[in-house]
Amino acid sequence: MSEHLPHGGLIRKVWLGEADQYRDHLLRLDAASRRNRFAGAVSDEFVHDYADLSLGIDAVIHGFFVDGVLRGAAELRQIGTPLAREAEAAFSIEKTWQSHGVGSALLERTLLAARNRGLKFLHMACLADNKRMQQLARKFAAELSFDFANVVGEVATPRPTPLSLMREMVADSHGFATAMLDVQSRLLKPV
Ligand SMILES: CC(C)(COP(=O)(O)OP(=O)(O)OC[C@H]1O[C@@H](n2cnc3c(N)ncnc32)[C@H](O)[C@@H]1OP(=O)(O)O)[C@@H](O)C(=O)NCCC(=O)NCCS
Repeated sequence: MSEHLPHGGLIRKVWLGEADQYRDHLLRLDAASRRNRFAGAVSDEFVHDYADLSLGIDAVIHGFFVDGVLRGAAELRQIGTPLAREAEAAFSIEKTWQSHGVGSALLERTLLAARNRGLKFLHMACLADNKRMQQLARKFAAELSFDFANVVGEVATPRPTPLSLMREMVADSHGFATAMLDVQSRLLKPV
């Protein structure tokens, strides 16, 4: 996977027990980013409840971590009946880390996960004035055909291939190994 991430950053899946990290990340978003993320203004209470509920079994969340702190996330959540093969995707990157290629890397991982789950249509609640998200989606025009009037993207080649499954497995084991290193280095740090 050709990821160009800011120095010290890594992408891995967010685990079930990491709802606190996810909540704190969403609360750190500046007002404009929070509005864009949730397609409207939402309160801190809403964000608390949302983070508690979002790490369910039907969601795949990829996180961008810097020094063990979650700074960006991409949610992929299947919606509707399994036959519909539809999902919702949502991205959130903290301001300092925006425009450094993190959104591109997270969308790449999300598309791979969508393909491996046979998902064909990706819905994104994207406000009309969110040019950056629209630019980001356009970058993946070869893999994703977008209709922004309806905010639905169609994933090209929705079927998993042995190679696409292998790419996700390799990305996961890399993420797991570095996550363990993160935990160890935090344990070893003097307090
Ligand atoms: C929208 C968002 C996910 C994009 O992620 P990002 O990491 O900032 O984007 P990238 O750095 O990967 O840039 C993607 C493309 O957007 C465009 N872009 C980057 N910065 C931009 C800016 N300041 N203005 C306009 N377009 C911009 C570029 O075309 C870029 O691709 P390129 O650098 O290869 O030319 C991120 O900014 C974000 O989380 N914003 C707040 C929440 C949100 O809007 N979520 C989306 C709704 S679900």
